[in-house]
Amino acid sequence: MHRIGILTSGGDAPGMNAAVRAVVRAALIEGYQVFGIFEGYKGLLEDDIMQLERYFVSETINRGGTKLRTARLPEFKDVEVQKKAVEILEKHNIDYLVAIGGDGTYRGALGLTKLGFKCICLPGTIDNDVQSTDYTIGFDTALNTIIEAVDKIRDTSSSHQRCSLVEVMGRNCGDLAVQAGIASGAELIISSERVMTDEMIISSLIEDKLSGKRHEIVIVSEHLTDVHELAKKIEKEVGIEARATVLGHIQRGGAPSAFDRVLASRMGIAAVDAIRKNSPSVAVGIIHNEITCTPLEEAITKPRIADLKLYSDAQRLK
Ligand code: F6P
Repeated sequence: MHRIGILTSGGDAPGMNAAVRAVVRAALIEGYQVFGIFEGYKGLLEDDIMQLERYFVSETINRGGTKLRTARLPEFKDVEVQKKAVEILEKHNIDYLVAIGGDGTYRGALGLTKLGFKCICLPGTIDNDVQSTDYTIGFDTALNTIIEAVDKIRDTSSSHQRCSLVEVMGRNCGDLAVQAGIASGAELIISSERVMTDEMIISSLIEDKLSGKRHEIVIVSEHLTDVHELAKKIEKEVGIEARATVLGHIQRGGAPSAFDRVLASRMGIAAVDAIRKNSPSVAVGIIHNEITCTPLEEAITKPRIADLKLYSDAQRLK
């Protein structure tokens, strides 16, 4: 009989609760025991662990955030810290850890794997930056949140004939920016896959102004430029009013979309299937709508290939 530890780690993402729910429900049906580890790897080191029953996950499928809570713990890179984590897991006779999070979570799980502890990773992050899957849990919800916000910004932007800069999250991955840009009909999309300097943005806006465009929506991935400064430059150099909105953590909250609930449920079930088969450490993903399990080391080391066709398609919709 397996004893499964489960945690959520790194930035929270809508649908993490749905994934935990699926793991708990599917595992209990198999007769396994599940132990919730609160606040990610931090809670693991603090032995903040509680056996989970069915009721713990009741009425959570629709809830944003993570009921298991989460934390970032940079020290978890340290092998001595990882050894302590394995000791605690073994003390509870836990034989598998299901870790839900982004690449930092995966790297922590790989560290435990190298110490002989088996982990099943589920991609939970709004950034969509995990290479072993087409979609991460939380990405679709965040995308919809962005689009709802940009639709509202568009109303005021077109009324005032302004240029509206909207900064979105995504860390180093432009998927939120490009898909939000396409879905909201943005004039320009700036992301790490398609970097434009402030000067390039300004000349593109001047061109648009000359062609008669009366207002603009520009979606910008975080960390690429200071959107407030850029808005000032646009006012001065393009001669149109400009406003910047940083959407920030609103993108991480809210009830998960139907897509994220179903994805999280499928992935949670796949995690339990992997455990039933005594699988080595893997990363669960979805590729071409098939649930997949990629060896964890491979999932982390391969570089993520951006869908560049999507970026060029976005250009053709201007
Ligand atoms: O990884 C998710 C994410 O929301 C990124 O998009 C963003 O860069 C980062 O987390 C923000 O982290 P924090 O909430 O710790 O400031």
